[in-house]
Amino acid sequence: MPSIVVDNISFSYGRGDVLSSLSFRAEGSCHISILGSNGSGKSTLVRLIDGLLPLRRGDILVNGISVKDEKSIREIRESIAIIFQDPDSQFVSPVLEEDTAFGPENYEMENIDQIVSRSLSAVSLSDFRKRVPQTLSGGEKERAQIAGALAVNPDIVLLDESFSMLDDDGRKEMDALVGDIWKERLIISITHSADQAINSDRVILLSGGKLIADGSPREVLCSVSLLRKADVRPPFAVRVRESLKERGISIPPVLTTGELKEVLWNFR
Ligand SMILES: Nc1ncnc2c1ncn2[C@@H]1O[C@H](COP(=O)(O)OP(=O)(O)OP(=O)(O)O)[C@@H](O)[C@H]1O
Ligand SMILES: [Mg+2]
Repeated sequence: MPSIVVDNISFSYGRGDVLSSLSFRAEGSCHISILGSNGSGKSTLVRLIDGLLPLRRGDILVNGISVKDEKSIREIRESIAIIFQDPDSQFVSPVLEEDTAFGPENYEMENIDQIVSRSLSAVSLSDFRKRVPQTLSGGEKERAQIAGALAVNPDIVLLDESFSMLDDDGRKEMDALVGDIWKERLIISITHSADQAINSDRVILLSGGKLIADGSPREVLCSVSLLRKADVRPPFAVRVRESLKERGISIPPVLTTGELKEVLWNFR
């Protein structure tokens, strides 16, 4: 069962802590959103989990192995795929199929050609094998990133604001694809958008490098005061409920736009 245990970590790049006394556990096949405003320490946390930054205070265990154990860092990296925000900066080859093969080659996997075919097919890019990655559209580039991650068969997938360059529909499509492909894995999505965190199983809220909430989307995202503290805009439905309240109209708590529609439809 994939797992990440973050045990009382603090981290500083030199001046002041950007993460302080942070702890949480994530286990099994679930989808967790880590939500926080700009500069709250989200990407720093991703880099610490993948051993890209040196951790001195506290510990992080990935599948039971400490990121501080230098001998095992390769094993940790092989179990994690990270999809970053800017796809252009992540392509390593001028031909898509070579790019998709990069991870499997690096990890000396067998049947690479088959893995590449399967991965590109899973994201509907089979016809694009010979394309120069930079010539793909934004959405196709994101699919290519997903194929590259899929090719290394990770236990854990970290998405750092991955699809934030796409429009709403494009992003929803990618989120659905990710959920579908890695149903059985541990997915951690980093985001500053409360609306994007609605469909995850659990939401961890960061503010100034501290964990200020950890609960279900409904517990965390309907709490306007918590979100305000973290400088995160509440989800659309929650904002509508708040502005109705300011006008003296009271409706029951809602999280999704579907629930909002339902409540307004029955309102009298
Ligand atoms: N290499 C670095 N050197 C010094 N400070 C850094 C470095 N990287 C990040 N920081 C600082 O650490 C803090 C947290 O940055 P981080 O990138 O983790 O935030 P974030 O939550 O991912 O923000 P965003 O939503 O803007 O991506 C910020 O104040 C940032 O300026
Ligand atoms: Mg970031």
